[in-house]
Amino acid sequence: MILSGSANQHLAHSLADQLEEEVLPLTYRRFADGELIVEVDRDDLLPTNVVVDATSFTIDERVVIVCSTISDQAHLEVIQLQDLAREAGAPSIVTVVPYLGYARQDVAHHPGQPVSARAVIKALTVNTDRFITVDPHEDAVLDYSTADTASVSAVAALADGLPLDADSPIIIAPDEGAKSLAVSLRDAIGYGEIDFLEKKRIDDTTVEISLTDTDVDGHEVILVDDEVSTGGTMATAASQLLDHGATSVTAACVHPLFIGGAFTRLARAGIDRIVATDTIERPVSQVSVASTIAAEL
Ligand code: R5P
Repeated sequence: MILSGSANQHLAHSLADQLEEEVLPLTYRRFADGELIVEVDRDDLLPTNVVVDATSFTIDERVVIVCSTISDQAHLEVIQLQDLAREAGAPSIVTVVPYLGYARQDVAHHPGQPVSARAVIKALTVNTDRFITVDPHEDAVLDYSTADTASVSAVAALADGLPLDADSPIIIAPDEGAKSLAVSLRDAIGYGEIDFLEKKRIDDTTVEISLTDTDVDGHEVILVDDEVSTGGTMATAASQLLDHGATSVTAACVHPLFIGGAFTRLARAGIDRIVATDTIERPVSQVSVASTIAAEL
């Protein structure tokens, strides 16, 4: 049985279709003081193996919670759903966090800062039997998990959303840390040169990018990264690649956060195609991670 966070309902239903399981109908609302509460809808169409009445609520099968932690609310949704499933007697709980927020806060930059990734992952894993996430920013943060944990990759699936116009794409990662993503994508496409750029982050929204010696003149470029947040990385890289003669730049990412004016930033930089997955549900989420997650379950 699938329990969905409020922002992941489409992915939750895709996963339910893959697993041939049902999605528990839930309502999220807030009390007058602003506190969140999730409730099981009491209707006549509840899945089998679920009983809810005035005095009790039971679930007699494995529960899979699907909730990308894209907001503070989403973190609360996960821990409330885990508590709900545990108290309902579910024989096992698997928490699937397709996009793992706070993973980029994997170090304390100054004394007096917490390692937020550690704090969050401990909280998300203390009341679940298994924890599954998709392309976390750093696999190392999963060492903070107290549950049986798996990290799966959806980079290869991005190839499904890439109708290529040319025979010789160059697949480029915007920094060395994303080079393995370029390798995975090239392997899934089956051909293409690989490169990675040098990136220096100036602040939350600004980066400096240095191109390498790779000649992009006359080539289609696919930029691939784990996520697009403000769009600063992709936009800065794309502008320079187009200035150096790339015929087109496609932005491919697993997690389309697209904060603030990110879409506009990418468009103004000349990026003509964006391919992303549904770990975060956005208009560009045309590739589903449902089968990737189902295979791990
Ligand atoms: C950072 O290392 C990540 O891999 C992404 O490159 C980064 O999060 C993208 O952020 P933005 O879109 O704000 O440049």
